[in-house]
Amino acid sequence: MAATHVRGLKAALNANGKYRYKTPESVVDYLVIGGGVVGLAVAQRLAQRFPSKSTYLVERHEGPGQETSSRSSEVIHSGMYCLYYLEYRDIERSLEGLYYPEDSLKTKLCIRGRQLMYERCERHRIPHRKLGKLVVAQDSQRPYIERLHDKAQRLKWPPHSAPLDRRALPTNLITGDEARELEPDLSKKIVAALWSPETGIVDSHSLMENLEKEITESEGGELVYSTRVVRVDPYYGSSLVRDQPSGDAREEGWVVQTVTGDQEESDPLLARTLINASGLSANVILNSLVPQDQRIAMYYARGSYASYNGSAVSHVSHLIYPCPGTGRVEHGFQSLGTHLTLDMQGKVRFGPDLDWLNPLDESNPDFWEKHLIPDETRLRLMHEAVTEYLPNVTFEGLQPDYCGIRPKLVGPQGGFQDFVFRKDYPHSFTGAVTGSSTNRTNPMISLMGIESPGLTSSLAIAEHVVDDILCDAEGHRDS
Ligand SMILES: Cc1cc2nc3c(=O)[nH]c(=O)nc-3n(C[C@H](O)[C@H](O)[C@H](O)COP(=O)(O)OP(=O)(O)OC[C@H]3O[C@@H](n4cnc5c(N)ncnc54)[C@H](O)[C@@H]3O)c2cc1C
Ligand SMILES: *[C@@H]1O[C@H](CO)[C@@H](O)[C@H](O)[C@H]1NC(C)=O
Ligand SMILES: *[C@@H]1O[C@H](CO)[C@@H](O)[C@H](O)[C@H]1NC(C)=O
Ligand SMILES: *[C@@H]1O[C@H](CO)[C@@H](O)[C@H](O)[C@H]1NC(C)=O
Ligand SMILES: *[C@@H]1O[C@H](CO)[C@@H](O)[C@H](O)[C@H]1NC(C)=O
Repeated sequence: MAATHVRGLKAALNANGKYRYKTPESVVDYLVIGGGVVGLAVAQRLAQRFPSKSTYLVERHEGPGQETSSRSSEVIHSGMYCLYYLEYRDIERSLEGLYYPEDSLKTKLCIRGRQLMYERCERHRIPHRKLGKLVVAQDSQRPYIERLHDKAQRLKWPPHSAPLDRRALPTNLITGDEARELEPDLSKKIVAALWSPETGIVDSHSLMENLEKEITESEGGELVYSTRVVRVDPYYGSSLVRDQPSGDAREEGWVVQTVTGDQEESDPLLARTLINASGLSANVILNSLVPQDQRIAMYYARGSYASYNGSAVSHVSHLIYPCPGTGRVEHGFQSLGTHLTLDMQGKVRFGPDLDWLNPLDESNPDFWEKHLIPDETRLRLMHEAVTEYLPNVTFEGLQPDYCGIRPKLVGPQGGFQDFVFRKDYPHSFTGAVTGSSTNRTNPMISLMGIESPGLTSSLAIAEHVVDDILCDAEGHRDS
């Protein structure tokens, strides 16, 4: 793992001043940037919750989810995922500024998101399967899964959830032989396993199609594809817009300029509330607004998958995860280790591994695109990792499959990092007020670091943004 000398990317989207400020002529209540699974979930919830308001979702590609959201393991995480963080805290208690991961947004939104995901999948017949997952342990790793199990018992149901089970995260400790009864191909070296019945898989494309359909069929929702946001400016001043209720001539929000297709000119639009769910590019837009020294760095960690066609997995019917590393650099919060996943067709895949990218050409915020091509270089290490628990998997059966990139807010040495929901207000940029707690309306909410379990959490992220953050803000209550 090339873990050293990874630098963050701090390029600003509009640094070269290509697009000048323009006065908007139309207005939208909610504008969501990014049509990945998270942006779609937020737009769907806004359109459902506020049918009389307008919600636009702007996506630069011709369809949804073409960046990270179509390159994941498609696993509905039970929340056990988040226990790896707890484990980390116990190991490095002394680390400064560390979150208490059981209270982290990743933990809460994963558990709540899992519940919402299964509900939606069942209600809308979105292909999914609750396969269950095994975290398998060799002798030296037995204490690790025992601690995970212990921690799982103590996790509480997060806000909004409707407890279905006494335990928010059911797990069982089983022996190696019991694990081999479930999965006969497992190595004899596996002496124990942690069974998570709530883990599953979902067809993420069908999920995104389902969300798209609800947005387009809603009264106020609209999807705008092949359109990219190229500039954002805070707006605070007199009303520009004709549909203002009489007597209120002020208007606040965000002037969002978009470019559609290969058109030269940008179109300005005033968004009263802006939600930035632009994934890997998310900080690029924000960085164009904030002073140089406050810019947010972003780190990119690639995960590669290998497909497998060969012997020694013929019986596999559950997801199989090794125990993640416990070192600072290869810990489970960075990557879960090269695990076995199955897709809806029952096809076996290994991955994702972890490999940090170095944005050498910092002027190109989309430098990572060229790293989305999987190659053979990762296969040897992946094979080594996999044969630790599935000993008869052959190297020849592995083929590079696809890659995804994790948007990370901290680098390889950075420790645990939670999801971040950053709120900015037009005032904070116009110089009218700084640090004031008044006029907390018309926010721009930036969703940052939405790496795994972002797919699982997507519907809960939408609930959190719409029901907790926006409905708390003045002027965004139900009307
Ligand atoms: C290898 C890997 C495996 C993973 N496995 C899992 C898993 O098994 N389970 C799980 O729960 N999570 C998993 N995740 C995490 C999950 O995939 C992500 O958290 C989730 O897909 C993020 O969705 P998003 O909508 O935030 O981002 P994205 O899918 O990246 O969507 C952002 C969108 O914004 C658009 N955009 C960007 N800039 C602009 C602009 N200026 N104008 C217009 N549009 C713009 C992009 O085109 C993109 O479509 C995995 C992630 C990776 C990388
Ligand atoms: C792997 O293959 C060897 C040799 O064919 C066999 O003895 C062994 O039982 C196999 N292991 C598993 C876990 O299937
Ligand atoms: C969107 O969110 C990202 C965080 O990932 C942030 O950096 C970016 O600047 C945000 N967009 C806007 C318009 O602020
Ligand atoms: C798997 O490999 C076998 C022979 O090694 C081949 O016949 C078969 O077509 C392959 N299947 C796929 C899906 O590639
Ligand atoms: C906050 O908003 C109120 C009315 O909505 C306005 O009168 C006041 O000037 C604003 N405060 C600041 C500091 O801009």
